Amino acid sequence: MEWVWKTEADTANAARALGEALAQRNEPFLIFLEGELGAGKTAFVRALARGLGIPEEIPIQSPTFSIFREYPESQPSLLHGDLYRLGSEDELEELGLEERLESWLVVLEWAERFEDAIGKPDLLLRLGHIDHSPDARSVSAAGTEWAVNTLRELS
Ligand SMILES: Nc1ncnc2c1ncn2[C@@H]1O[C@H](COP(=O)(O)OP(=O)(O)OP(=O)(O)O)[C@@H](O)[C@H]1O
Ligand SMILES: [Mg+2]
Repeated sequence: MEWVWKTEADTANAARALGEALAQRNEPFLIFLEGELGAGKTAFVRALARGLGIPEEIPIQSPTFSIFREYPESQPSLLHGDLYRLGSEDELEELGLEERLESWLVVLEWAERFEDAIGKPDLLLRLGHIDHSPDARSVSAAGTEWAVNTLRELS
């Protein structure tokens, strides 16, 4: 399914609402965020975290250099990963991803390369720039029916 978020506020509103829905559900969940540098993947996670109930005082920073950042303040707890600089599947194992997948909300940027090791996401969201519009993003969503329909309805 494909649509457009015209402004960063559109992205944030949808992400926050999805976070609220995931908090109500309170089950493990896996999201892959795809899209080029600056597409808005981290911006999406920032708003998702607020919807989950992670307080504003806790900054959601890009995990570009740390690979993973963990936020146990929500239910389910949030693991935000950016695998851009990850070298190998072995490194992924050392980071303890597998046990997190069993009970956390895991949101990963740049995970495409490791899909074989990680498994299929419940929601795969691809964000893209749209020509001539600095703030609009194309959105394409795939995954479980619940995830795709929920996000679509909340957008
Ligand atoms: N509709 C929109 N949705 C998301 N971000 C937007 C939108 N419009 C403008 N932006 C801006 O685009 C930038 C997105 O940056 P962000 O760090 O979220 O990208 P990213 O996809 O995580 O990139 P990277 O691959 O480098 O981690 C931010 O500066 C944000 O303010
Ligand atoms: Mg990012």
